[in-house]
Amino acid sequence: MSTVIAIDGPAAAGKGTLARRLAAELGLPHLDTGLIYRAVARRVLDRGADPRDAAVAEREARALLAADLGRDDLRGPEADMAASAVSALPGVRAALLAFQREFGRDGAVLDGRDIGTVVFPEALVKLFVTASVEARARRRFEELRAKGVPTDPAQVESDLRRRDMQDAARRAAPLRAAPDALLLDTTTLDIEAAFDAALALVRERLTAGAEARRG
Ligand code: DC
Repeated sequence: MSTVIAIDGPAAAGKGTLARRLAAELGLPHLDTGLIYRAVARRVLDRGADPRDAAVAEREARALLAADLGRDDLRGPEADMAASAVSALPGVRAALLAFQREFGRDGAVLDGRDIGTVVFPEALVKLFVTASVEARARRRFEELRAKGVPTDPAQVESDLRRRDMQDAARRAAPLRAAPDALLLDTTTLDIEAAFDAALALVRERLTAGAEARRG
């Protein structure tokens, strides 16, 4: 069985950085699945359409090209909310499922909201990465500030809360931990400490999986 590592969690919990570093450490490809929803949202906005318009969003999801994931306008408050809106549409999610499964077929690290629950429910390793909303808002604010984007900390926190609520309350593949996911709370951890903790959890699961296979 190929090694799929599923990393889920709310926005700005650190899962993207952890996923990238785990992939490099383990020699596996990495897919940030949030980028796919962001790219679909951008295509919908390019058409001048509303990201909640199911017909347009589904059509754009089916027409998505690999090059769309390389766009430089996939981050920022507008893309955040538009991505969250298109991701609530079941037709959009269905259209993007095959691509994600194909990517992970021979082993990969994927991060998102529903990797361990829907995309790869059989994944050997599942991490659910969280942090308090205050810690996540602080990190997102610092990120934006470092990029020179003018922002207000209170606005960053309220956007984050709104997006979390939208992602967790939707019917289609809501944000939640798989029952067999290992929980990692990064509230009080810096990136090095979070990476060490994540790697220890991953190795524990990989070892347990290898032992189970040996019987
Ligand atoms: O991880 P991110 O913040 O880049 O994701 C952007 C949005 O895409 C997020 O608000 C919810 C959605 N998303 C999703 O529904 N399922 C995923 N596997 C990844 C992201």
